Amino acid sequence: MQDKILSLLTEINDFEIINKETLEQFKRNYTSKKGIITTLFEELKQLDKSEKALIGKSLNELKRRAEEKERYYQEKFETNYSREPYDLTLKGITQSEGSRHPIQITLHKIIKIFSEMGFQIAEGPEIEDDWHNFTALNFPHNHPARDMQDTFFLENPNYLLRTHTSSVQVRLMEKKELPIRAIMPGRVYRNEEITARSHCFFHQVEGLVVDKKVSYADLKQTLEWFVQKLFGRDTKIRLRSSYFPFTEISAEVDITCFICGGNGCSVCKHSGWVEILGCGMIDPQVLINCNIDPEQYSGYAFGLGIERITMLLHKITDIRLMDQNDIRFLKQFHYFSLS
Ligand code: DAH
Repeated sequence: MQDKILSLLTEINDFEIINKETLEQFKRNYTSKKGIITTLFEELKQLDKSEKALIGKSLNELKRRAEEKERYYQEKFETNYSREPYDLTLKGITQSEGSRHPIQITLHKIIKIFSEMGFQIAEGPEIEDDWHNFTALNFPHNHPARDMQDTFFLENPNYLLRTHTSSVQVRLMEKKELPIRAIMPGRVYRNEEITARSHCFFHQVEGLVVDKKVSYADLKQTLEWFVQKLFGRDTKIRLRSSYFPFTEISAEVDITCFICGGNGCSVCKHSGWVEILGCGMIDPQVLINCNIDPEQYSGYAFGLGIERITMLLHKITDIRLMDQNDIRFLKQFHYFSLS
């Protein structure tokens, strides 16, 4: 009887059910009251006790397998497509795609513009030492930026969270792979109160060119090209004399307000100009600090805040929106992240 059960198992496995008719045939052969399995259960009763347990087990297994196969095809053929369980006219569920963060969108634009001008991209550490962040850049020891109020110092006060990406300038110059033509994006930290206009961390892009005979005119030309690419071809720049410890001469750069075209609006506070970055010719002492001979080499540097540019470009009035990860804010940049 055991052999019979085994060959039936093969038969059941091999039985091809392709439609309702073959399913009925299957039931008639195997699982119905008049089917072979029921007959075998009758025969089981005749066996002696010693055999009953073992064969009974096999028979139950055979029955389970047959019923399982029957159930599978039963359900498969029962699905009645004519009742249209799916309404094909219904709107699908949109899978919302992520989008780039507005800061990344601006950064990509900036990187693209400068790469086209032959600038490399460099990065430096966010935890910096006093030398790279301050001393090499000519910050006097009593400079307010060195104050605890402005800088996050680590337990060992020789280390700090960099307050600007100008520290990466020093790292690049120290490597002395001249000439240098690079931009250095990154996050910076300042011990400032968080308000709509200021934050304790934000992002900057630093620019650095060191070569023979680099002039202030080169700097001006590069920045003019950059702002026209970023804000539009009609944008004009104005360099206002300023002070940074690491540049001499130093300037702050304003652009004609790209919203009102210089006529005056709330973004430019009715002046027609908006400030966008700081720049200057590298102070010869900074070159010396990095073991570069100022008699042979000169250079320019500039630094801009990515949040500030992003806020101007998109008329965002609160910097805190940038790090709150509010999806209602972020998804408005979906379109911009495609370009
Ligand atoms: N490091 C300055 C800041 O954080 C920005 C800056 C100004 C960078 C002038 C420069 C520069 O490279 O030449 O405010």
